Amino acid sequence: MCITYLKDRRLFKLDTPHTTYVIGIVGEDGYPGHVYYGAYLEHMTGIEDVLRINEDPFTPDENARAKTAFLDSFPMEYAGHGVGDFRESAVRVKDAHGHSGVMLTYVSHEIIKGKEKLPGLPATFATEEEAATLKLYCKDEVTGLEAVLSYTVFEQVDAIARSVRFTNAGQEDLFLEKAMSCCLDMDNRDFEVLTLHGEATRERHKARRRLDYGSFSIGSVRGRSGHQDHPFMAVMIPETTEHQGEVYGFHFVYSGNFKATAAVNQFNSLRVLMGIHPEDFSWKLTSGESFQTPEVILTYSDKGLGGMTANLHQLYRNHLIRSKYLHRKRPILINNWEATYFDFNAEKLLDIAKESAALGIEMLVMDDGWFGNRYDDNRALGDWFVNEEKLNGGLKPLVEEINKLGMQFGIWFEPEMISEDSDLYREHPDWALSLPSRKPSLYRNQLVLDITRAEVREHILQQMFQVLHSANIAYVKWDMNRSLSDVGTAAWPADRQGEVYHRYVLGLYEMQERLLEEFPNLLLENCSAGGARFDPGMLYYSPQIWCSDDTDAIERLAIQESTAMLYPLSTMGAHVSVCPNHVMGRTTPFETRGMVALAGTFGYELDITRVSGEEKQMIARQVKLYHACNDIIREGDYYRLASYQENHLYDCFQINAPTGEECLVFYVQVLAEAKKRSRFITLQNLDKDADYLVYELEPQSDALWKEEGKRVSGAVLMKAGLQVERMKGDFQSRLYRLKRIECQETASTGSIAEQPA
Ligand code: GLA
Repeated sequence: MCITYLKDRRLFKLDTPHTTYVIGIVGEDGYPGHVYYGAYLEHMTGIEDVLRINEDPFTPDENARAKTAFLDSFPMEYAGHGVGDFRESAVRVKDAHGHSGVMLTYVSHEIIKGKEKLPGLPATFATEEEAATLKLYCKDEVTGLEAVLSYTVFEQVDAIARSVRFTNAGQEDLFLEKAMSCCLDMDNRDFEVLTLHGEATRERHKARRRLDYGSFSIGSVRGRSGHQDHPFMAVMIPETTEHQGEVYGFHFVYSGNFKATAAVNQFNSLRVLMGIHPEDFSWKLTSGESFQTPEVILTYSDKGLGGMTANLHQLYRNHLIRSKYLHRKRPILINNWEATYFDFNAEKLLDIAKESAALGIEMLVMDDGWFGNRYDDNRALGDWFVNEEKLNGGLKPLVEEINKLGMQFGIWFEPEMISEDSDLYREHPDWALSLPSRKPSLYRNQLVLDITRAEVREHILQQMFQVLHSANIAYVKWDMNRSLSDVGTAAWPADRQGEVYHRYVLGLYEMQERLLEEFPNLLLENCSAGGARFDPGMLYYSPQIWCSDDTDAIERLAIQESTAMLYPLSTMGAHVSVCPNHVMGRTTPFETRGMVALAGTFGYELDITRVSGEEKQMIARQVKLYHACNDIIREGDYYRLASYQENHLYDCFQINAPTGEECLVFYVQVLAEAKKRSRFITLQNLDKDADYLVYELEPQSDALWKEEGKRVSGAVLMKAGLQVERMKGDFQSRLYRLKRIECQETASTGSIAEQPA
């Protein structure tokens, strides 16, 4: 069992393979204190000292006259509010008389095998053999608020999943005004914090800064996780690099408003909080009612950011992504968005499909514009029936033709939205979120549907089901193109309006669950105006998410680097598009665009009927390359070797096949340098006692790889590096495939052994 309770010392020890987390229950009142989180502890003698309960101001049992001093300095496992801990709280609750004040103390605990589901929420899962869960039952005696602090510890992964379930055990109504999923107090060790920021077409760029006195926070109040801040935070010692240093990662399994705070106080201690953003949040709990927070994933690594990446990849592959497509090569798709925008019909789509099929592309995805009177982005959202002017006879004949070409068919929806110019709005104007007497603000001329209401969800789902049952449809791209504003609804009473943001997200999750139940073989790709809802919550429903509407290969290097820092490459929607790029106006070589997209799900987003003969040849080669490399890319271990975001010149990463027999190294030279020398890049986690044959991608020939592989030992590749020859020109790329072979040199003499027959 990876959770132990040392009863006489009132300590809980939670172990993952390389980490330990310790909670201590302190004083007569039973304050749950945070003792330790870090590298694995074999023994724990003396660990309680970390709580400093032998120091002034002591516990309240011994020094009740200075109780606030205790509450304000004690490392709380889950911080209360209003009664003496003056740091930012984890929970806030107001009673029926308008009074606030809460302090949760220990009542009892339970240790169970496995992990319970979080009702209505995406969450990590594990069997009884794979995890154990500590449930700390706590209570605030005055309000009657009960809380179960949950900690799931994974047997094989260095990760802990934390969440909280509140219940009103009193008689009167309570209002939760803040309910964070995780609170972690520890001494500040000159920590730095890493977060991800951006905007539409520039998602998830890294920002690193030193934590100082005061509070640093990121978040979203947009109703979705958003382009701007990612629901992730890493706290690390200043020496941390990709391959060394101590890192604490926090990742929120949720797709709506969130807040993450790292605050340093007068004692130079740090509090990290993560959970639903308290702004515009309030949840009424009548007597006996419960509220479940989403979960936060905690991971610790003393092997740098790369160690954190490995932990999260392992966790998400094995314990979060449910789709049966997770371990399958996804069909290479071509999406018509950048090819046609709204200007297409069945003939145009068939032309694209014919050219695509001939080159080995496996699925056509029909994007926005196929429904209602959707001739531009000003109308028709909510009218999910086929526009027969564009697609005469409906979907069936088109999809049949496409299937005859040997291709699958996929379709785009934006189910959560409504246009004012739509049949749906004309019939149900009250189905849009809005505040009474206030005209809601438009974005892209659209409003947000009130999916907190069951009848609205049902109506949209029934429309979608009808479309999806009408033809052989293998894939759905679920889009969401605006943030929520004017968040009010006639469906809920005044004292429950603060629940709408979260109920919206619960409604979204329920809709996706229903869709997958109805179509268990569906490949679902989530999307939100590019990558505004690339978060662990959505990953529970779809094995892949569209990264960004920016398909420029160079901008994508940055976006995909940060995305891959947290998520397996198999989750990153990435396509090759035309140049000059529609967002950046930049022209990059077709090979480089292919290489960058190859590191994700891979596909095309261009008018294939208009590309040159030479480019068609390159497409056929890229298709071949995808089939040759995708198993490694999808299943392999990813290592970041150089970051274009940091060095502004070149980008490099490595993927080791799970068999240990092969690896791939991707290199992109963003800017050419005047220096006429090759560059050596040290590789990660090869067999130091083996040799490797290094094959380079052959740029223009039918064979993918140059015939002659260069023999280099694993030790040399890891210590001296892989030689990347100098390239002329900006935006150039190289791909290397390394195959492990027996070492030629004997270790003892250093002499060359006989060449194996
Ligand atoms: C969003 C998506 C795009 C495309 C358009 C269609 O912006 O990110 O890929 O589907 O919507 O309107």
